[in-house]
Amino acid sequence: MKRILNIVGARPQIIKAAALTRAIKEHYATEIEECILHTGQHYDSNMSGVFFDELGIPEPHYQLSVGSGSHGAQTAKMIAGIEEVLMREHFDGVVVYGDTNSTLAASVAAAKLHVPVFHIEAGLRSFNMTMPEEQNRIVCDHLSNICFAPTATAMENLRREGIADSQALFADGKRRSVVNSGDVMYDNSLYYANLSASRCDIIERLGLSATPFVLATIHRDYNTDNHQRLTAIFRALLAIAHQTRVVLPLHPRTAKLLEQNVDSQVYAALKREENILIIPPASFFEIIELERHAQVVLTDSGGVQKEAFFYGRPCIILRPETEWVEIIAHGAGILADADTTRITEAYSSLAGMQVQFPPLFGDGHAAERIVQEIINY
Ligand code: UD1
Repeated sequence: MKRILNIVGARPQIIKAAALTRAIKEHYATEIEECILHTGQHYDSNMSGVFFDELGIPEPHYQLSVGSGSHGAQTAKMIAGIEEVLMREHFDGVVVYGDTNSTLAASVAAAKLHVPVFHIEAGLRSFNMTMPEEQNRIVCDHLSNICFAPTATAMENLRREGIADSQALFADGKRRSVVNSGDVMYDNSLYYANLSASRCDIIERLGLSATPFVLATIHRDYNTDNHQRLTAIFRALLAIAHQTRVVLPLHPRTAKLLEQNVDSQVYAALKREENILIIPPASFFEIIELERHAQVVLTDSGGVQKEAFFYGRPCIILRPETEWVEIIAHGAGILADADTTRITEAYSSLAGMQVQFPPLFGDGHAAERIVQEIINY
């Protein structure tokens, strides 16, 4: 029996981990034992606890409760906490997800103790080194024993950077392997779409059944922390709200910075605008329902971009670039950055469009493939 430590910390990681937990429970319960470590990077119940409840993931065995802080302080606390757990107990590997500070900390702590690192969502690149996520994912890919790439593009990135063909040996004498596993988020989208419809009434509750609406999410630091960018995005939302309702589940980072980082006139207009519905961070079922029913999705989140694509919804990306280039290549999304005119023009051209979904993100069995590879390792 292999023992793995599944390391989560931020909201999207809890969602991705659910796919692995499900695959283990359904197919591999006699071959692999999973423990969960939560770094505590996200700690509000609507950023963390609600996902464990909805997705049926067991309570974390280890809770580090590091909370918020500067990147260095937060990451350092996580490294120390994860190291302690890995030194106390034997694990055959750690599983890490995506590109957050929790991913970075877990891969550094494990690699230094020669515990194999299995990176899910490896090979993603924005080619923007100012993003903390780009820094985190590059380090993590280099430290990982197996890189699980979700797409052909991610595989190509790993090859181009020499990560796929690296001759470097790990402590167990093996070289890194790189696997095109498909995307665990696509597994989840298929699995949870029906469940969310029967268990979540957010569309009726918000009075959205009869009218088209736009779903917007904003949380990237370079949008929330920059007065000019955040103001430009909210100007665009106000313009769109003249034509249709806008639903905005507000990430705590954005909520804290909104008043201070949005032009005062725009902020006052936002407070008056009844067509912009600001709601607390959505649960997983709530966001799925909002994505499935939205006319257009506006977002700076990678996960929301992809889910919009999975559910056939066009997407306006509030960033200068995206890691998920397939979405742009298929005309399902437009990069509008934080530019008011580009955002409103993108809205005009995408409203009413139905996106065709080609199977670019696997076959819905990525998690099973990943668990099998980990067992074989
Ligand atoms: C983090 C990830 C980002 C990911 C996002 C998902 C990094 C560098 N960034 O961004 O890649 O897309 O999670 O949501 O790891 N806060 C709360 N309550 C919480 C959590 C955070 O109020 O439960 C507030 C705090 O003021 C905190 C701020 O949000 O300082 C930012 O949180 P942090 O975890 O540092 O980064 P995110 O912006 O959430």
